[in-house]
Amino acid sequence: MSETVEKKKRIFSGIQPSGNITIGNYYGALKNWTQMQDEYESIYCVVDLHAITVRQEPAKLRNKTRELVALYIATGLDPVKNIIYPQSHVRQHAELAWILGCFTYMGELNRMTQFKDKSAKNESNINAGLYTYPVLMAADILLFQTDVVPIGADQKQHLELARDIAQRFNHTLSDTFTIPEPYFGKVGARIMSLQDPTSKMSKSDANPNATLSLLDEPNILTNKIKRAVTDSVGVINYTNEQPGVKNLLDLYCCGTGDSIEEALAFFEGKNYGQLKASVAEVTVNELKPIQDEFHRLMKDKKYLDDIIHTNSERASFLAEKTLRKVKKKVGFIV
Ligand code: TRP
Repeated sequence: MSETVEKKKRIFSGIQPSGNITIGNYYGALKNWTQMQDEYESIYCVVDLHAITVRQEPAKLRNKTRELVALYIATGLDPVKNIIYPQSHVRQHAELAWILGCFTYMGELNRMTQFKDKSAKNESNINAGLYTYPVLMAADILLFQTDVVPIGADQKQHLELARDIAQRFNHTLSDTFTIPEPYFGKVGARIMSLQDPTSKMSKSDANPNATLSLLDEPNILTNKIKRAVTDSVGVINYTNEQPGVKNLLDLYCCGTGDSIEEALAFFEGKNYGQLKASVAEVTVNELKPIQDEFHRLMKDKKYLDDIIHTNSERASFLAEKTLRKVKKKVGFIV
């Protein structure tokens, strides 16, 4: 039928409301998402249930969650065209996660590298939620019959598990879930730390100079970029031997949309100081309008509350369709 032909593919993705969203999250995720919103039917979640797998300060978590909803919108995601909401507002996530947990083997969870990393970092709080985190993520995705999941490379293993769980459920109890495909963004997916350009820029980095936060004021952005670690080669090349300079070139190109070749031609014969000044200018130009919009939205409490409320209902409506089907298949009275 024509209806199935015309149907847009569905996207689901999420970011945790912990730490400060970095320019890496922006170029690697949010900016790509804004470019996909016409082609896909998109659902963007603020995954607060995932955030509490490590200890959070309640008041801070609440603020961060609102801020992230506002940031999604400020970066250009349309809250009418897309569905933007906090995960905890849609109880079906947790409900489906329980059921899917019964279709997941401990052996599979034991192999998750992120669990191993995170438990090494949180030795005093290796809780069951941290362990079953990938099951909840599978529930997020499968709840919406998602076709495409934009993720960073670090989430690849989790997505593969979601696919395995979906396939196992479908084989055991007949076709129920769409099998999701990963989508990896382009360049911006790997913006590196400014202080250690061989490791990825992380919003949980303890050293504030290592990251560019999306909400850093222009002078802070500029200072951090000026202090970025480079090397003693003194020539602007795009090579793994000069990871700091390479990262600055990536930042430049993410902001301008130039190719690396174009950027290299532009910087030929210039020094690191000039490179940094250009990167700072491009970055401030990119982020300033987002920051202005963010601050405007944060002042409009009623608008944000309305968005959260309406979008959670839209998400819940879609989620319930899947959950009912699942409950029936497993043999619950519905
Ligand atoms: N685990 C993801 C991360 O930390 C966040 C996440 C939770 C997510 N649920 C998701 C991403 C579903 C994509 C789809 O980056």
